[in-house]
Amino acid sequence: MLAPSAKLYNARARANVRAPSVRAARRHVAARAAVDTPSATSPATSSSSSPSSKRTVVITGASSGLGLNAANSLIKNGWHVVCAVRDFAKMEMKATQMNFPKDSFSVYHCDLASQKSVRAFAEALQVDGVNVDVLICNAALYLPSGRARWHPQFTADGFELSMASNHLGHFKLVHELFPLLKASAEAGRKPRCIILGSVTGNTNTVAGQVPPKANLGDLSGLAEGAPLADKSLFDGAKAYKDSKLCNMLTMRELENRYNDSGIIFSSLYPGCIAETGLFRNHTNVFRFLFPLLQKNLTKGYVSEEEAGERLATIAESEDTAESGQYWAWRGGGDDLVENYNTKDRGTPIKNQPSTDVQDDAKAKKLFEISMDLCNISEFGAPAPVAAAKSKVSTA
Ligand SMILES: NC(=O)c1ccc[n+]([C@@H]2O[C@H](COP(=O)([O-])OP(=O)(O)OC[C@H]3O[C@@H](n4cnc5c(N)ncnc54)[C@H](OP(=O)(O)O)[C@@H]3O)[C@@H](O)[C@H]2O)c1
Repeated sequence: MLAPSAKLYNARARANVRAPSVRAARRHVAARAAVDTPSATSPATSSSSSPSSKRTVVITGASSGLGLNAANSLIKNGWHVVCAVRDFAKMEMKATQMNFPKDSFSVYHCDLASQKSVRAFAEALQVDGVNVDVLICNAALYLPSGRARWHPQFTADGFELSMASNHLGHFKLVHELFPLLKASAEAGRKPRCIILGSVTGNTNTVAGQVPPKANLGDLSGLAEGAPLADKSLFDGAKAYKDSKLCNMLTMRELENRYNDSGIIFSSLYPGCIAETGLFRNHTNVFRFLFPLLQKNLTKGYVSEEEAGERLATIAESEDTAESGQYWAWRGGGDDLVENYNTKDRGTPIKNQPSTDVQDDAKAKKLFEISMDLCNISEFGAPAPVAAAKSKVSTA
């Protein structure tokens, strides 16, 4: 059964399929949302399912920043992009602004902060018969200032909001879409599963040394539902960094467990994309000064467009087809000397992650705790759609 929010988006989604323009879509959305009574079996989706001849990539958080620009690059390279977003109308508007051809993308509702929504999204893909050749776990939330920095918010599932959106939602999503990725591998399409990392979750970097540092402790806080994984006093900036550390550890454990699956697992640091929506919850002063600092002093600044091309490279290039790697770039990265000296900003390099990110015991423990929190008994083997529906209806 779809969650109420998914039902609303479902109505919006179907309204948008027929809408000639975003402005018209908005009017149409309101009308359809008011009169439609979507059935529980209808997918929370718009547009046609992906044509099987085209390679298909699912991008979470495709409505902004890096995800939007990676979608743009991949669409130009002939991919069909499944935009997994929480704000349907915003995605439609951005797609129009970026001139995405109508048949090159589909928009699906997926709120990563809700485990039910993630499941509904995966069900919708199955119902629509969508192939998945690449999954990019890109969406993220960063709460570094104001009230949200010091006061944890919890989701309906009982998880701290940053950890829920950035790590646990994606963990559930990889589990749910694993059969589709494996099917892609069996068809010889060399699927990839990419999880965005960050220097901020890597304590062997300059940015990673800025307090508060990422630290998962013994993970007991995560297991027990505390605001932070190491049970320290809540800090929204740390929650983000911890979640990024979880993202990179998850990729490592996926590689450890499933390196014979035919799926290529990767993580990356795309560079400092200082003007994206990620910093929307920061102070105005920070948002004014940060891009200037990155452009003129550290030279770590990367435009959204350039970062989108970098992410697209990780999704499709033969040069980045080695599984288990954490990719970064010279020039416009975390290495200040290289930022000044290197003209080549386009070639990905295998980066050395921090000791924490290479901690296999912690990666295994995180994976097991995450399975437990996401109510997963066998990873990669989600309940089939029909069985899941009958389970809900008899409950
Ligand atoms: N910016 C950087 O310098 C930088 C550096 C290193 C790594 N990264 C990583 O790059 C990725 C993209 O970040 P960005 O800089 O492009 O930030 P962004 O512009 O804020 O994009 C984040 C996206 O995530 C979506 N999102 C947030 N919470 C969600 C939820 N609960 N369910 C579904 N979608 C959700 C947002 O949706 P809405 O559009 O609806 O808000 C948005 O589309 C993140 O993983 C981030 O950690 C960024």
